[in-house]
Amino acid sequence: MTAIPLPQYSYSSILQDAAKVTWQVQDLMNEHKSLDFSKSFLPEALAHSQGITCLNPAEQLTLNHIRGHSYLHLFGLVEEFILPLVVNHVQSLGCTHIQATQAYLGFAAEESKHIHLFRRFSAAFMAGFGHPCSGIGPAKAIADFVLQHSPLGVALVTLHIEWMTQRHFLESVHYHSGKCLDPQFCSLLKHHWQEEAQHARLDTLMVQDLAQTLDEAAIEAAIDDYIAIIQYLNQGLKAQVQLDMASLEQAIGRTLSAIAHEEIQHIQELSYQKVFLSSGMTHPNFVRSVQALSATGSARIAAIAHTFSYSHPKLFLKKTAA
Ligand SMILES: [Fe+2]
Ligand SMILES: [Fe+2]
Repeated sequence: MTAIPLPQYSYSSILQDAAKVTWQVQDLMNEHKSLDFSKSFLPEALAHSQGITCLNPAEQLTLNHIRGHSYLHLFGLVEEFILPLVVNHVQSLGCTHIQATQAYLGFAAEESKHIHLFRRFSAAFMAGFGHPCSGIGPAKAIADFVLQHSPLGVALVTLHIEWMTQRHFLESVHYHSGKCLDPQFCSLLKHHWQEEAQHARLDTLMVQDLAQTLDEAAIEAAIDDYIAIIQYLNQGLKAQVQLDMASLEQAIGRTLSAIAHEEIQHIQELSYQKVFLSSGMTHPNFVRSVQALSATGSARIAAIAHTFSYSHPKLFLKKTAA
């Protein structure tokens, strides 16, 4: 297979685009705004709660809200390893290519702003939800695990995450006009992507920069690192499903049966894997960057992504009926 050439991004055009985005956390969530719990927080394409047969519609909506909370929590977690990656990279650049330095410093500042944004929305969630809601962590332990891998491996995970954010916005909010969603959550997905659009291009350049200094064996080792981090995150997502189910039982005031647990675990694991893993691993721009590094590495990642493809809930019903 012939790899499609990577687009030629420039630091000057990235800086120009970054300067056009001027929102502040206060604009998106403040003391005059709150979340509307009568509406979904995430589109069904990101929550997959409506196909769960053991829940009634009100309970499916509560699960959607819990998925909204975990979305905030999980993005808060990943931003905590992206920020040090970018800070370390900018330190290695110095001032030789000053536009690159300026662009990465802007990137780091925006990721700090995003951590603040997700925490602010989490506080609004807790104020309105009325029940405890847990997330995996602690964030520092997850960041420490991720950052012990090679910078190129971590940069690939970051590239995956930032292009994945585009799919979250485009495929679920933009193409559906955010219909019936809570307007604050819709606004969060839109504004987050406005800045991630620059980050994804900077990640592409960072991956190219880091790879330039490495031989073939070191590049394959970095792809091993990427895969190890993805598998680690997959375990974390499975644990998050269990926490979500405990939150759901508290919020709906009933204990779910063993069969109901099995159905929710099955559907929600597939959902988390599609939303946070395969949607990044199969993003065409991510695939292009990996193909430029290693054809075999790209094939290995594609094979793993295939195992994370979302299956329709009916597959679960068939499985249990058999
Ligand atoms: Fe971000
Ligand atoms: Fe970002």
